[in-house]
Amino acid sequence: RKLGIIAIGDRKYPTDEWTNVPKHITEAVTRKLHLQPDHPICLTRKLIESAFPLPLWKYHNKLFPVVTTKQNFDSLNFPVDHPGRSRTDTYYINRNTVLRTHTSAHQADIFHANLTDGFLISADVYRRDAIDRSHYPVFHQMEGARMWDRKRARPGEDLSEMIWKDFEALPDPGIIVEDPNPTFDPVRNPLQAKHHSPAECEAIAAHLKRSIEIVVATIFRAAKEAAANNASSSSSSSSSDPSDDNPSITDEPLKVRWIEAYFPFTSPSWELEVFWQGDWLELLGCGVVNQNIPSNAGVPSQIGWAFGIGLERIAMLLYSIPDIRLFWSQDPRFLSQFSAKKPIAPFIPFSKYPACYKDVSFWLPPATEVAEGAEAGAGAGEGDDAAATKDVDAAGSSAGGMPNPHTSSTQAPTAFHENDVMEIVRDVAQDLIEDVKLMDEFTHPKTNRKSMMYRLNYRSLERTLTNQEANELHSKVQDKLVEILGVELR
Ligand code: PHE
Repeated sequence: RKLGIIAIGDRKYPTDEWTNVPKHITEAVTRKLHLQPDHPICLTRKLIESAFPLPLWKYHNKLFPVVTTKQNFDSLNFPVDHPGRSRTDTYYINRNTVLRTHTSAHQADIFHANLTDGFLISADVYRRDAIDRSHYPVFHQMEGARMWDRKRARPGEDLSEMIWKDFEALPDPGIIVEDPNPTFDPVRNPLQAKHHSPAECEAIAAHLKRSIEIVVATIFRAAKEAAANNASSSSSSSSSDPSDDNPSITDEPLKVRWIEAYFPFTSPSWELEVFWQGDWLELLGCGVVNQNIPSNAGVPSQIGWAFGIGLERIAMLLYSIPDIRLFWSQDPRFLSQFSAKKPIAPFIPFSKYPACYKDVSFWLPPATEVAEGAEAGAGAGEGDDAAATKDVDAAGSSAGGMPNPHTSSTQAPTAFHENDVMEIVRDVAQDLIEDVKLMDEFTHPKTNRKSMMYRLNYRSLERTLTNQEANELHSKVQDKLVEILGVELR
């Protein structure tokens, strides 16, 4: 890309050799699904907000998506070689400016403004990623944080007593909680001993976990009601007990479990999983705020906790939405099914249009290295949105082992990353691509060249694609793979 100007919403930014934001992404910036009345993402946001009532909590829903690398990464202790900083993972406006990859990018600024005890931030976030029914390069997150000010404690006392008092005021969520690990562990999940007494950490953790359990109880009570709304409206059921034909509706209390986790910006850290329809489902990440964040933001006396949750994942299970692309649909057959005035009920698909599979095989340019983890990327990591900014080791399938952007700063043409394939496909096919899977890869024993085979599933959610349309899209994809990645089609 030549040096120039890129417009994001109503603002303009200079581009440079780091710029990698395609048109379909800049166009998504103005959509703001979390603010569209009656949109399922907006309704999901409001449902979660209801677990954090005003005036103690303050909601920030209009923060602009362009942030500095300092806001998105440095202020949150991301090491310089963290894979999340890579151009293969993140949309760069230019070297120092990105589309936020998570709502945590605003933590430091909100701490700095020091407005209230608790805040929620809901916003669109952007990540280069696999293409399948649970991954889209734009999605929505909610960030929450609850802080207490040391200046409010009596001299010589820590804040734990005050925090436990707030804990006791929280309602009982009435769910089963498994929490097998100690609150902190010197190796796996350390206390920030310089900043928190053990008693404070225990109190913050207890308040955090209880608050999140309330959120989860709120969400899944609504989900159960939604499933019941489905069962009672389906005429096929002759029984008056909806749980007869719907395994998700039982009177069993909801079960959740706390898992130790790692984020550069919290310690100790956890993930919450919920037992839903027979599986443990990862819901969110959270932890005790790393004290250097409020300290660097000019409020060193504030201590507390933070969490981040992906809204699409929640909306998909609340409304039984089968494909993440549907959220972007402007089709009234989709949009008309949701309303703040209606009870939550499962989405009724208007039709299942046929899939159209097309394969592409190519040789990578000679001596191309395949970024480690790229092979496992597509299809794996189902719905791992909330996890993708974790540490390298903990990141699992979503962010594993990308090339270090600081040692290959202009993305050496010899490094192949699967996300570059995804971007080309998305750019050509927009929302007509359902998923892209790596089917085969091998290295030629003599030439040492690497060959990859991907299977692309073209499908519209709104109409039947003709084979000719799919062929045209596919040949454009093939041309661009050659042109941009320098591969050789087989
Ligand atoms: N920002 C994290 C993510 O996107 C989630 C998170 C937020 C974790 C706040 C801990 C605290 O994965």
